[in-house]
Amino acid sequence: MDVKKLVSQMTLEEKASLLSGLDFWHTKPIERLGIPSVMVSDGPHGLRKQDDKADHLGVNDSIKAVCLPTACASAASFDRDLLRMIGEAVGDACQHEQVAVNLGPAVNIKRSPLCGRNFEYFSEDPYLAAQLSTSLIKGVQSRHVGTSVKHFAANSQEHRRMSSDSVVDERTLREIYYPAFESAVKEGKTWTVMCSYNRLNGEFASQHRGLLTDLLRGEWGFDGYVVSDWGAVSDRVQGVHAGLDLEMPASGGTNDRRVVEAVQKGILDEKDVDLAVERILTVHKRYWDHAKPDTPWDLEAQHQLARRLAAECMVLLKNDDGILPLKQQEKVAVIGKFAKEPRFQGGGSSHINCFKTESLMDALKDNPHITYAQGYDIITEEPDDALIAEAVSAAAGADKAVIVAGLPDAFESEGYDRTHMRMPACQVALIQAVAKANPNTVVVLYNGSPVEMPWIASVKAVIEGYLGGQAVGGATKDVLWGDVNPCGRLPESFPHKLEDNPSYLTYGGEGDVAVYHEGVFVGYRYYDKKKMDVLFPFGYGLSYTTFAYSNLRVSADTIRDTDELRVSVDVTNTGALAGKEVVQLYIGDCESTVFRPVRELKGFEKVFLAPGETKTVSFTLDKRAFAYWNVQLHDWHVESGDFTVEIGASSRHIRLAKTIRVESTVELSVKFTVNSIFLDLMKSPKAMAVLAPLINGVMQSMGMDQAGSDAASAAISKDMAEAMLRYMPLRTVASFSGGQISYDQLCFLVDQINNA
Ligand code: BGC
Repeated sequence: MDVKKLVSQMTLEEKASLLSGLDFWHTKPIERLGIPSVMVSDGPHGLRKQDDKADHLGVNDSIKAVCLPTACASAASFDRDLLRMIGEAVGDACQHEQVAVNLGPAVNIKRSPLCGRNFEYFSEDPYLAAQLSTSLIKGVQSRHVGTSVKHFAANSQEHRRMSSDSVVDERTLREIYYPAFESAVKEGKTWTVMCSYNRLNGEFASQHRGLLTDLLRGEWGFDGYVVSDWGAVSDRVQGVHAGLDLEMPASGGTNDRRVVEAVQKGILDEKDVDLAVERILTVHKRYWDHAKPDTPWDLEAQHQLARRLAAECMVLLKNDDGILPLKQQEKVAVIGKFAKEPRFQGGGSSHINCFKTESLMDALKDNPHITYAQGYDIITEEPDDALIAEAVSAAAGADKAVIVAGLPDAFESEGYDRTHMRMPACQVALIQAVAKANPNTVVVLYNGSPVEMPWIASVKAVIEGYLGGQAVGGATKDVLWGDVNPCGRLPESFPHKLEDNPSYLTYGGEGDVAVYHEGVFVGYRYYDKKKMDVLFPFGYGLSYTTFAYSNLRVSADTIRDTDELRVSVDVTNTGALAGKEVVQLYIGDCESTVFRPVRELKGFEKVFLAPGETKTVSFTLDKRAFAYWNVQLHDWHVESGDFTVEIGASSRHIRLAKTIRVESTVELSVKFTVNSIFLDLMKSPKAMAVLAPLINGVMQSMGMDQAGSDAASAAISKDMAEAMLRYMPLRTVASFSGGQISYDQLCFLVDQINNA
């Protein structure tokens, strides 16, 4: 199929018709030219293919499929290979079901624990979100099925999601909210990008030319098409001009007619329409050329995969006295509705219709040492005394109690945000009562985002299971009884309470205006800067074994910002069990003229170690690892100076560190004026060459050279005099030099400096 030739054979009406959907999930065909319709479907932790009765929030059933761990869980794996496996499984399902594009991954940053869709998102950290989602994209697309990285951009709340305006400064967008999209385009080569519902700095994302054309295509080299989030289009004509190629779902023909009219009236260039059609067909051709409906889709095999992967995502948060793993002969009281009916995915458009689910109790059916009590209800929050009493008696009669708790569906979902970070009161009451009855109490959590844990001190162990997919129950059993050594790490900070979160004061916005006041200080970037205690830090997670770090090496003590730095470290399994450690590398700028976080994740590797085994883990860092986004250059920039290279088991458990120096090869060109202050002038060798004599003169004429001497009054020391001078603008020389230097002469000197 020669796409350009096809487009040249189309009427304007035919071209416009291809720019919006046929229905909820299909694009339009043009039979006359042999162009088929394609189907797109939601994901990304499974396939949500609706055959009929389509709706975009998953209210109606879709075909039976497999729910793999959702993004909140898979992000906790810190494992690129695991994400790739999820992608491949979803890609196979899409091929089997003749779906050309899977609508995911969703890579928005977790700005607040309150975002209703956090369970679909990866992390508060842009590097982690970028690395993992890009692996998933590569996995899906290795099957010749496209992905649609979403929701572009700055879509970190559900509150007023279709009208709110995310007001975010340039540096914050570049450092925090864009990198996962940038990586999806540059590294992942995503076939499509889905624009978000919200406005970004005043303009709807669906008609934001700066975003969809200048940045996405111009800078990042995106060669696919942009699809609207379902119903995100406001002004279709502006959207086409901005670079929004496909509107979904169908617009009933209204917007197609608008596009035709706009071209006829000369408001829209027909070339913009041609380009959009070309992009859509070029991407679909990639699928058509490799469509393989005979691809096997083995649901049972994918269920086993879901179980294996879910176990790798679980985060062991606490394990006092090594109470876990449980032993085969131990009498265990399993408590909680979620132990029989696990919550393993979130509500809305990513909801998978599972062909089967596996609860913890299902997985324990052959274990004779188990008793069960429901403990709480999920319909009401009110503690149920009878259910609690039953649970307490089961716990009292057992060696250990395992409570499976978390957030019910209504607490977090697409479409609205949470209003607090608490667990249901009935679960909190249950945990407290059971922990009193049995000191060996373990809590397993199924939830899509952080919760407050007022009960944490009263229990011995906690496992964060997130929303682990349909096999989460089997995976929970595997981790609890030690068939799998837990190796997940938190992809987000757990604050003690909601009020600690950096976006707390303004999250959700005023009316439709959501200003991202905290800037780059999202998640641990904020908590670390504030030296605040958190419940559990970013990157944290325990294991049934222990690890030691040694021998941190860097390839050079000083590099230029154009060089690469290689870092390696040895990690040893010092315990008795095999296990996996997530080695994390953080970079911090020791001194900077801009506000920067204490440390930022710039590398991670998951490494499997047998007991006693040592492996060397290596990282290669480039300029980006040290850079911040400079709003003057509109580019990444490294300031010359010292940087810490830290190796940690979490953002708060730094095991080894070194300081290296990076020299910048970029000179920031500064234009001075007579209002430039001496502090800035003195930093410029160019300026000092011209001004040094003048500065001495000023000091003398103002008596500052006497400061601190016996003759001078004690009121002003030399340091004080110099400090005062630092903040004086150059123009003050004209006023303070007693007529020796005029304003015009200063202007002349400034020109000399600027032109030197
Ligand atoms: C969601 C998207 C989803 C689309 C189609 C929208 O409401 O925001 O993530 O892909 O619906 O279901």
